[in-house]
Amino acid sequence: MNHTIEVINNRKSIRAYSDVPISQAQKDVILNAALRSPTAGNMMLYSIIDVMDQKKKDQLVKTCDNQPFIARAPYVLLFLADYQRWQDYFIQSGVSEMCSDAGASMRKPAEGDLFLACCDALIAAQTAVIAAESMGIGSCYIGDIMENYEIHKEMFKLPKYVFPITMVCFGYPTQQQLDRDFTERFDQKHVVYQDQYKRLTSDDFEGMFESRQSQIFGDREPPKGVKNLGQFMYKRKFDSEFSREMNRSVQTILKSWVNE
Ligand SMILES: Cc1cc2nc3c(=O)[nH]c(=O)nc-3n(C[C@H](O)[C@H](O)[C@H](O)COP(=O)(O)O)c2cc1C
Repeated sequence: MNHTIEVINNRKSIRAYSDVPISQAQKDVILNAALRSPTAGNMMLYSIIDVMDQKKKDQLVKTCDNQPFIARAPYVLLFLADYQRWQDYFIQSGVSEMCSDAGASMRKPAEGDLFLACCDALIAAQTAVIAAESMGIGSCYIGDIMENYEIHKEMFKLPKYVFPITMVCFGYPTQQQLDRDFTERFDQKHVVYQDQYKRLTSDDFEGMFESRQSQIFGDREPPKGVKNLGQFMYKRKFDSEFSREMNRSVQTILKSWVNE
């Protein structure tokens, strides 16, 4: 097992941080690694905001589904899918005039451009995570940054073609976090298919969720109102309040990006 694979296999999400500070040199290593990530067309369709202001971190606790550890994270990076920079550069470069000279109109960033920029931003984020992990610095993604778009837009002065796709909290783990068990993953056979997509059968699902069901419920009955893990996960995650807010917020971003 080489060191890189060990680092990847030993990572877990860290949500409680020790007092050990992250040095500027370490922050630079994390950022430089992120910026070395593969990027579509070498365009770097993302920006990163280092959230240093404690008041902003405190506000993010509330706007990201009440997660208090955000305020206690020593280093918080917000990853933005960003087509604004290229759009501004195109305009500065006279692309609009070039298009009208050719009898065409300049096209605006559309859905595919947004998805590509999201790919770039997420790949950069995960590279930052692994770089941090290699130095013993733990991390945790905050997907809830996609909620409350209107508030985050104002907080971070986000222009039209910038989408806050993810946020990552970094910090040295507490001993309790280091001692905590790793989370389970589904078996490879349920996730990796040969040559074509495979719809899973009820037998597949039984095998797939067997140990997870016992990990979550143990010997106890499922909570009131649900009969099994599928119903539990639907209510707890998919149809939760945060999930509804995330979809509302993302619809607003999409409308702004694509239509207006
Ligand atoms: C896109 C994404 C969003 C996530 N959002 C959150 C979050 O808002 N809060 C949180 O505590 N963990 C969040 N996580 C961490 C997951 O809960 C975690 O990765 C998962 O439970 C597996 O645990 P592990 O990372 O320790 O292996 C997120 C992870 C990803 C990839």
